[in-house]
Amino acid sequence: MKERLQRLLPALDEGPVDGLLVTASDNRRYLTGFTGSAGVVVVTRAGAHLLVDARYEEQAEAEAADCTVLPQGRELLPALARLLGDLGIARLAFEAGHVTVSDHGKWVEAIPDVEWIPTTGVVETLRMVKDADELDIIRRAAAIADEAFEEILPTVRAGRTEEEIALDLEFCARRLGAEGLAFPLIVASGERSALPHGRASGRRLQSGDLVTFDYGIRYRGYCSDATRTVAVGEPGEERRRVYETVLAAQRAALEAIRPGPTGFDIDRVARDIIDGAGFGECFGHGLGHGVGLAVHEDPRLSYKNGDEPLEAGMVVTVEPGIYLPGSFGVRIEDLVVVTAEGTEVLTAPTKELVVNEP
Ligand code: GLY
Ligand code: MN
Ligand code: MN
Repeated sequence: MKERLQRLLPALDEGPVDGLLVTASDNRRYLTGFTGSAGVVVVTRAGAHLLVDARYEEQAEAEAADCTVLPQGRELLPALARLLGDLGIARLAFEAGHVTVSDHGKWVEAIPDVEWIPTTGVVETLRMVKDADELDIIRRAAAIADEAFEEILPTVRAGRTEEEIALDLEFCARRLGAEGLAFPLIVASGERSALPHGRASGRRLQSGDLVTFDYGIRYRGYCSDATRTVAVGEPGEERRRVYETVLAAQRAALEAIRPGPTGFDIDRVARDIIDGAGFGECFGHGLGHGVGLAVHEDPRLSYKNGDEPLEAGMVVTVEPGIYLPGSFGVRIEDLVVVTAEGTEVLTAPTKELVVNEP
C-alpha cells in the first residue's frame, strides 16, 4: 500500500494541493488495504491518515498498516476539520465523482477555511494497471467463476428456469471460494437473450433456445467477468450465423490487443466485423471495460470513451454482442490481461458453440 500511496504524490503537485481526500470505497481500499464499509482517507506528501468510526477502529489498525488510523468519534466533520488543521492543509483535493452535492455543501460549510479542489479519476488512473498481487487475485477469481460455470453447464436443459440455474451457479461459485457475486447473474434465454443485461428470471428454457450466461464473482475484493452463450437443442442456421459473427469479432479484437492502441481502436476492430455482417445496429454497447475492485472501471474499450491507450498490466473484458429484439441475442466475453506480447486470456470455457441435449 505504501507504494500505491507514493504513486499518488505527483497528483498533489499537479493541483497543486496540500492533500487529497479519498471518499470512494474502492479507492480507499486500494490505497490503504482497509476493507470496511466507511471511512475517509487524507493523503498528504508526508503520509496517509484514515478516519474511521467506532465500528472499524480495530479492523482499520489491523488492515491499514501504512496509514495513521484515527478515531472519527461521533461525527466525521469535526474530526476531519481537526485533522486538516493539524496537517496545515489549505488546499484539499476531493473526488468530485464520488460526493453528493449535499455532502459537499456540508463540507464547505463546516470547514470554510479550506479551499476545496474538485478532481476526477486520480486514484482510478492508478488502479488501471494492476500489480502482480492484484493479477494473481483476479486470475483466481476468473478460475473460480469458470469452474462454477463448467460445473453447471451440463444442467442447462429444457424445462429448468433461468433462476434455478443462476442459483446453482452462485452456490457452486461460493462453494469454490467466491466471496459473492460481482453483479446479479445474467441468465437470459430464448427471446430474453436479446436483453444485454437480462437478469435471471422465472422463464423455463426451451429446445432451440440460446442462453446467455454473464457471470462474475468477487474474490478478495476483486471481480471477474465472463460471458458465454450456449444452445439448448439445435439452434438453427440463423442463430449459428450470428454466433459465428460475434465470435469472429471477439477473436479479432483479442488479436488486436497489445500495449499502444486505444480502447477506441480495439472497439473498432470488433465493430467493423459486426457492421460488415449487417448487424451494426444490433451492437449497442462498448466492446469492454477494465475490471478490478470494481466490475466496471477504466480503461474503457468503447466508441464512446475509449481514449486510453492500453498498457501492460491492464485487465479488460472483450465482449461484443448482437441483439435482435424479441428474437434472440449472442454475447461472448473474455477477461484478459494486457501483456507486452498481447494478452493473457483468463477465461477458460470453450467458445465453440456448446449445444446441450434439450
Ligand atoms: N456483466 C456486465 C458486463 O459484462 O459488463
Ligand atoms: Mn459480463
Ligand atoms: Mn463485462
